[in-house]
This record gives sequence, structure tokens and C-alpha cells, in this order.
Amino acid sequence: MLQRIGVFDSGIGGLTVLRELRRVFPALDMVYLGDLARVPYGGRSVETITRYARDDMRFLLRFGLDAVVVACGTVSSNSLEPLRKEFPVPVYGVIDSAARLAEASADAGAVGVIGTRATVASGAYERALHALNPRLRVISQACPLIVPLVENGVAPDDPVAELVCARYMEPFRRERTDALILGCTHYPVYRSAFQRLLPQTRMIHVGEALAEFLREEFGGCTGGEGRTEYYVTERSAAFDETVRIMDQTVDPSSIRVETDFLG
Ligand code: DGL
Repeated sequence: MLQRIGVFDSGIGGLTVLRELRRVFPALDMVYLGDLARVPYGGRSVETITRYARDDMRFLLRFGLDAVVVACGTVSSNSLEPLRKEFPVPVYGVIDSAARLAEASADAGAVGVIGTRATVASGAYERALHALNPRLRVISQACPLIVPLVENGVAPDDPVAELVCARYMEPFRRERTDALILGCTHYPVYRSAFQRLLPQTRMIHVGEALAEFLREEFGGCTGGEGRTEYYVTERSAAFDETVRIMDQTVDPSSIRVETDFLG
């Protein structure tokens, strides 16, 4: 039974995952951590990503949690195994549940994956997808320009966003991709732009996929009072705007800053 879980991300984008968890588990208590002092993780080495993730886990475990959800695509794809080995709590990443949903939607056998450079370089989605179906064609594309565009408030129908998305979606258009895994916390914000370019492709929101997976695992078996505590490691410039882009229902002034655990 889940009563209180931790959710962490390299920054505030993980709110797109937390919102899906809240939808499925309204009573669950959650503690969110966004490591804004050290974001972005997506262009860093595996060693650095794992070191940062360890710090994030250590902070969250102060709260006496039943499980931790790694909302960050970059940490989920690069560091999940060490975290699972080193910490005495179940750790869920976003890869396997998204891969399962994508594979189930791949009638013509082609799945696309987009993520940060580190996510795509890890090959984690390919491995998860091929473990489900070795014949799948998996097309991966790093999309490093999308995180800064989203964070700078560029709307999905802005011509600049459309141009960048068109360039990134080209390989998936050529391959007639059945399902596209939005393998980074920020990409749900641009879901409509991707969908316009790939009208036949099913967009896989990794937060939705994980929330549904956890519903199957735990059913209605959750306690708690539906409270969420929010922490970040820095109030970065444009903090309030970034929070609102990711989830309009979160009050930025309720988010506390905590830094004493940073390595
Ligand atoms: N949260 C990261 C992810 O989902 C994106 C931002 C970053 O590069 O840290 O991969």
C-alpha cells in the first residue's frame, strides 16, 4: 500500500509527471524535488547524472517514503539500476511503462523515441522496447532545443517552435511511426505541435503511462491525505513562469528551497 511517495526531477518539468500521478492517486501524499540549481541534466555524463540523482534520493528519503518516482527521463534512462541497488525503497522510472504502451500501439512495428541527448545516448528505450518485441523498429532522436524553448515560454504554435519540431519530427514522418514516446518531462507541453506534424502517430505521455502502470500495481490501495510538498534547490530566474508552464494549478509561492544535501 502506498501512502506517501517521493517524485524527483532535474528541475520543474517533472510536474508534468506529478500531475498524472495526482489524477490517478488523488489521496496519495507526495514530496516533489526539482534540482533547479543543477538543471539541465540532459547534456551531462552518466557519472554526473547518477551522482546528482543520488543526492536527490538522499534528500527525499528524509521523508519516510513508500516509493520514489523518477520523473526525469534523463535519470530514468541512465541511473535507475544504481539507485535501485543503493537505496532501500522501491524506485520507479518512466521507461518501462512507456515502452509497454508504445509497443502495444505499434501495429506497423515502428516506435519513435525523443528525449535529451543523454536519454537517447543511453539506449534505454531501445532495450526496453526490444525486450518486449525484438522485431520493432525503434527510431530515436535527441531534441535538445525543446527544453529551452518550453522554458522560455515559446508556445507550441509559435513559428519558431513549429520550425524546430518539424525538423525533429522528420525521421518519424519518413518511417510512418505508430507511437512516439515523449521521453522528457517538458515534451507534453509541445504534444499538440508533435501531433500536428504526425497526425497518425499515438503520442505516449510517460507520466500517463507510469500512472496507469502504478494503478495496475497498487489498484485503489493508497492512503494519505492528498497533500503535496514541493522543494527545489534554487529559485531560478523566471521561476514562477516556468512552474505555470508545467502545471498551472501549482502555486509557485508554496515551493520551498532546500540545498543542504547538495554534494
Ligand atoms: N527533466 C529532464 C528530462 O526529462 C529534462 C531537463 C534536463 O535536461 O535536465 O530528461
